[in-house]
Amino acid sequence: MNIATTLDLRVAAKAAVAEGVVALTLAHPDGRRLPDWTPGAHLDLILPGGLTRQYSLCGDRWDAHTYRIGVLREPDSRGGSAYVHDELAEGDMVAIGGPRNNFALVPAERYLFIAGGIGITPLLPMIHQAELLGTDWQLLYGGRTRTSMAFAGELARHGDRVTLAPQDECGLLDLAAWLPERARPGTKVYCCGPAGLLAAVERRCAGWPAGLLRTERFAAGALGAPARNEPFEVELRRSGLSVTVAPGQSVLQAITDAGVGVLSSCRQGLCGTCETDVLEGEPDHRDALLDDAERAAGDCMFVCVSRSRSDRLVLDL
Ligand code: FES
Repeated sequence: MNIATTLDLRVAAKAAVAEGVVALTLAHPDGRRLPDWTPGAHLDLILPGGLTRQYSLCGDRWDAHTYRIGVLREPDSRGGSAYVHDELAEGDMVAIGGPRNNFALVPAERYLFIAGGIGITPLLPMIHQAELLGTDWQLLYGGRTRTSMAFAGELARHGDRVTLAPQDECGLLDLAAWLPERARPGTKVYCCGPAGLLAAVERRCAGWPAGLLRTERFAAGALGAPARNEPFEVELRRSGLSVTVAPGQSVLQAITDAGVGVLSSCRQGLCGTCETDVLEGEPDHRDALLDDAERAAGDCMFVCVSRSRSDRLVLDL
């Protein structure tokens, strides 16, 4: 595993904050300052056995000495969230990578935040930022039940800016009421939650001008078939090497096998660690990070999952 920066932090506090959700407060064992971050950023938690999982920072970005993350126990956990819930205890050390931000808050006249379940975590610091800047905002926050909705108590102080919509009381989020067919001028929408919610929000905003909706996924969606099934060439311009990427092999694997180091973490197109500049050729984007305009620009790719549409790609490696 190759991660840009890793740091060993101590679990300063662990607390249940909702049904199935614990919040971890992480601090440097010597009380040192932690690397700065911005709202929307996440950490890689590096767990025993080399598992890495991404968790959004949901604490106060102006607190230079602690990080806070919220961890949902995933029913089909591959060991990550189960380890955090069942094994990791206050006082334990844990390695982290990052912070890294693929979901940055950009200036707007007004924000609409839409959260589904644990998707509230990256939005909490965004709300804090909007408050500091005096920017108008509203939050629509859905969850299975009221008791499963983490940090709802913290949000109560914002009064009617916050709409809590537990599914067992209110049904599915009424997106038609919140997302009109025509975008509201000046409003940017930030949405984080399960794949079904993101897809529904994307459908509602399909006719809007680009850049008004930003989403963040926690899990990779199902990958469709790649654009091509034949091998393709990847030239690593700075290294002066060329490699052939076979069907079924990732670009990352082919590059690593050729002895060229590329930083990686999630290997699912989610975390952004393996971002690589594309100098020539047409990538087949298969990540969950780039928006349509960034995909069309074709000047970078995430080599852990993305492939090539052209016979040859030239990468800045
Ligand atoms: S390693 Fe996470 S996006 Fe490629």
